[in-house]
Amino acid sequence: MTQTILEMKDIKKSFNQVQVLHGVDLTLNKGEIHALLGENGAGKSTLMNILGGVHQPESGVITLDGKEIKIDNPRISQENGVSFIHQELNVVTDLTVYENMFLGSELRNKWGMIDVKEMCRQTSEVLSKLGVDLDPKKIVRDLDTSYKQMIEIAKALLRDSKIIIMDEPTTSLTDNEVDRLFELMRSLKQSGVSIIYISHKLKEIQAVCDRYTVLRDGHLVGNGDIKDVDLAGIAQLMVGKSVSTEAFYHEKSSGEPVLTVKNLTSEGLFKGIHFSVAKGEVVGFTGLAGDGRTELFESIFGFRKKYSGVIEVNGTPIKINHPIKAVKAGIGFVPKNRKENAIIKDLSVIENMSLSSIKNFEKNGLIHSKREQEKFQQYKDQLNIKVHDPNVKIDTLSGGNQQKVVIAKWLEADGDIIIFDNPTQGIDVGAKNEIYQHIMNLAEQGKGIIILSSEAPEILRVCERINIMFQGEITGRFSREELTEEIIMEYATGSKREAKNIG
Ligand SMILES: Nc1ncnc2c1ncn2[C@@H]1O[C@H](COP(=O)(O)OP(=O)(O)OP(=O)(O)O)[C@@H](O)[C@H]1O
Ligand SMILES: [Mg+2]
Repeated sequence: MTQTILEMKDIKKSFNQVQVLHGVDLTLNKGEIHALLGENGAGKSTLMNILGGVHQPESGVITLDGKEIKIDNPRISQENGVSFIHQELNVVTDLTVYENMFLGSELRNKWGMIDVKEMCRQTSEVLSKLGVDLDPKKIVRDLDTSYKQMIEIAKALLRDSKIIIMDEPTTSLTDNEVDRLFELMRSLKQSGVSIIYISHKLKEIQAVCDRYTVLRDGHLVGNGDIKDVDLAGIAQLMVGKSVSTEAFYHEKSSGEPVLTVKNLTSEGLFKGIHFSVAKGEVVGFTGLAGDGRTELFESIFGFRKKYSGVIEVNGTPIKINHPIKAVKAGIGFVPKNRKENAIIKDLSVIENMSLSSIKNFEKNGLIHSKREQEKFQQYKDQLNIKVHDPNVKIDTLSGGNQQKVVIAKWLEADGDIIIFDNPTQGIDVGAKNEIYQHIMNLAEQGKGIIILSSEAPEILRVCERINIMFQGEITGRFSREELTEEIIMEYATGSKREAKNIG
């Protein structure tokens, strides 16, 4: 028999006179995994922030375990058994793993002293449930983003929760880690815990969720059982019209190489890399965790200095040992992990957008704000960026809308080569297509485009040539016509490699 554990009814919320939730309902059953879906800016995180006590609704009723409650602050939410894994990573990088886990609720022994040993023990225990082998005393700063995300997840698991909110928990996780998390979610569900799961990866939704609720522009537009809908149906509910999953093509330009890389090697990261990208070409790099593709392109962009081999831009060999050199040579790089690498929190939306291409907006040393505003308006419309005032700080935008600003800034930058690392992280299905179309336009203008992505469907829809990497080497090179998701898997796991591909 299903038992309702949570009911949110007719929830309304505005920020600065702009209404973002227009009377939304959500019902959660005991022991279910419930998908909360919607486009970027639809109001998913806001609704969860209300349940988590971070924001107060203007009106509406929340009933938890049959009792109406008012959640004035996060503590009340926690005391009522709700744990919250936030969309943006909140780890304190100067603290250790265990200090992060117990921040604000340090354990003490019977003499009232901080009990480091016990905190470390519990940290290891919960991390090992997630399949993570990590020293609890390590400082968080130097850890990989996927570990930081795991720490956020582990933190929520530490408490005995009735409800766990997971707001895009897998954006930085590898496939293996995602599988572990799903296993754990299923076992939590068996023990009666309810999970609200937010993700733009619709395949994940299908794999792990029981029911769904869809929001569009702050309105409830549908709910039901996952088994009764397919992915296309969910996408359509989210966006309000059918969403294409066709591949993207563009007019070919001249075809001379803009970037050629010969025998690039960096001890322990990648080795013997050679490839070239022509004007107007879209080339993909894919693989699993540890394949070295991010490190390879961080080296080509000058973030990493220790490598050997030759990089030629437009036929001329250049030594790139600093990002400024790369930019001067005409290379642009859109890094992954927006919060850590790509946005400046204290600047406004429009300032963040014009950051990399400031010279496009400069006239006599002054920022030419009219042109800046025009460009902003253009991308706001084309990418459907949900923001009412371009002068608000970027961190008041929803996660996906921040990512759109990051992408827009590079669509504006000049340069012959643009490298996009995981460009559609947290972007909804509809806006993804808009971004792919912009990337095609850049290729049509003659730029060489490189896309790094672990999502096979994305690579297959957008890239004409695809390189698959395994443990720092390119193990397969294909045109998209030759390739399927299964073949990508074979080369990405190292179970196949072709002699012609070893260089
Ligand atoms: N603190 C805030 N101040 C002002 N506006 C806000 C604030 N938080 C959210 N908003 C606005 O509320 C709307 C809904 O944002 P929310 O973060 O809930 O979207 P979301 O559905 O989680 O989107 P995404 O998929 O991109 O994460 C957005 O237009 C956003 O700009
Ligand atoms: Mg969100």
